Amino acid sequence: VLVRNYTFVVRNTPYTRLCNNKTIMTINGLFPGPTIYARRGDLVFVNVHNHAGHNITIHWHGVKMPRYPWSDGPEYVAQCPIAPNTSFRQQVVLSDEEGTLWWHAHSEWSRATVYGAIVVLPQRTRPYPFPKPHAEVPILLGEWWHADVQAVMQEFLANGGDPNTSDAFLINGQPGDLYPCSRQDTFKMTVEFGKTYLLRVVNAVMNNIMFFKIANHNVTIVGSDASYTKQFNSDYIAISPGQTIDLLLEANQPPGRYYMAARVYASGGNFDNTTTTGIIEYIGNNTLPSTPLLPTLPAINNTLASFNFTRKLRSLADETFPVDVPLNIDTTLFFTLSINLRPCVGNSCQGPFQERFLASMNNITLQLPTIAILQAYYNNISGVYGPSFPDNPPFPFNYTAQFVPRDLWRPENGTRVRVLEYNSTVEIVFQGTNMVAGIDHPMHLHGHSFYVVGSGLGNFNKDEDPKNYNLNDPPLMETIAVPVNGWTAIRFKANNPGVWFMHCHFERHVSWGMGMAFIVKNGKGPNARMLPPPPDMPRC
Ligand code: C2O
Ligand code: CU
Repeated sequence: VLVRNYTFVVRNTPYTRLCNNKTIMTINGLFPGPTIYARRGDLVFVNVHNHAGHNITIHWHGVKMPRYPWSDGPEYVAQCPIAPNTSFRQQVVLSDEEGTLWWHAHSEWSRATVYGAIVVLPQRTRPYPFPKPHAEVPILLGEWWHADVQAVMQEFLANGGDPNTSDAFLINGQPGDLYPCSRQDTFKMTVEFGKTYLLRVVNAVMNNIMFFKIANHNVTIVGSDASYTKQFNSDYIAISPGQTIDLLLEANQPPGRYYMAARVYASGGNFDNTTTTGIIEYIGNNTLPSTPLLPTLPAINNTLASFNFTRKLRSLADETFPVDVPLNIDTTLFFTLSINLRPCVGNSCQGPFQERFLASMNNITLQLPTIAILQAYYNNISGVYGPSFPDNPPFPFNYTAQFVPRDLWRPENGTRVRVLEYNSTVEIVFQGTNMVAGIDHPMHLHGHSFYVVGSGLGNFNKDEDPKNYNLNDPPLMETIAVPVNGWTAIRFKANNPGVWFMHCHFERHVSWGMGMAFIVKNGKGPNARMLPPPPDMPRC
């Protein structure tokens, strides 16, 4: 095992985009933040020093952190925040991840500017399961707000409505030249004709699934969420916040300049039709006009373009990268995902019917505690989390019809956990609902990857749908978009003792309470137990 060391200094740094100057929270002054490079199985130490004057935590998205939830990062689930002028030396424990992941702040809305890529290369003597690319380029999709992002968060939580949308989407921190006053701020990548490039695409956007496409070029998808996939060609990708997609780009078109572009896929609300662009430029004699060609992205409301792309992902499932799908399930969970409303006390709110938006799973709206759930569990502190998170909604109903069962209109607040036995096998069916409005939910689980064994539109049918599960080569993911008014079934083995957050990766939805935590108990024997906390664990 190789040990690698990084230093992350959190600080406020002036940046200008679209002729707007502001100060944003950064790591080491960089936006996007530094890329962490490692090889499969390495141990990475990141010394985080907070000089930003604001609380923060950092999460290693998709890194399973075996037996070591202490450095996982989600505020008030795994840890208390790193207070201003304090440090936390985080241990990032890589195991079988290989490909692209990312890190981001996991405290309030700080991830809007505090994020970067994690590139996990194969072990030194191991090849990629595809021809070696000429070069590798991380492509991080992000956003720019003229306003301060914490102010954006505070405002919508106070007024009860939807958050303001950002002022631009970004590719590697740059909006591209279709926005006003942004000609200088365009990400550019040069390619040589005949060569192949590995693009490591990360969706770090706050609230939107994105379509991404390169003009005139088909790409070959080779991985997602640090797991290799069977190769397939596509002229666009759909990518959820939290998700990563690795793709090969062959520079095989008439030498010239081509746009890469990304735009929102929006199944409901929070509509934004602006397009961010970057430029791919062939080196040498360019025969095409100097204005790049713009790709035609799928329509903004094209649910099938998103759903069908995601359904094409399949595990490699060969001798080198076999699948290990749980076949006998110990714990079957059925979790409804809902956007709800609550009356406003005193004045009126900006949600539908002048009420306040909130969100729930199985009718429970997550309330984050004021000390971390992990800390409470480890130290036997009572009163921090309540009774078991329900395995099912209070009663079945027609989830996807625009019919509103009044009993489920108003979820209850709670800080509840579901305890799982060590090494037990778990199936979760996520069921989207249409209570206030139907929308996709990119669900993310910490501490584990899961196999996506099935998905569909409409209501899950527990007698029929499991017959069509893919148990041969389901994709191994950490974030999966549950389609609007549809369902997704995942399976995993609870083999990582600790406390692990599971939540929607739309930031406004988790702010509204769409999350819960699993406690995976210790198993027998020293290698099946959580490791002790580090001495510099932040305190509340
Ligand atoms: Cu990418 Cu809980 O986060
Ligand atoms: Cu959601």
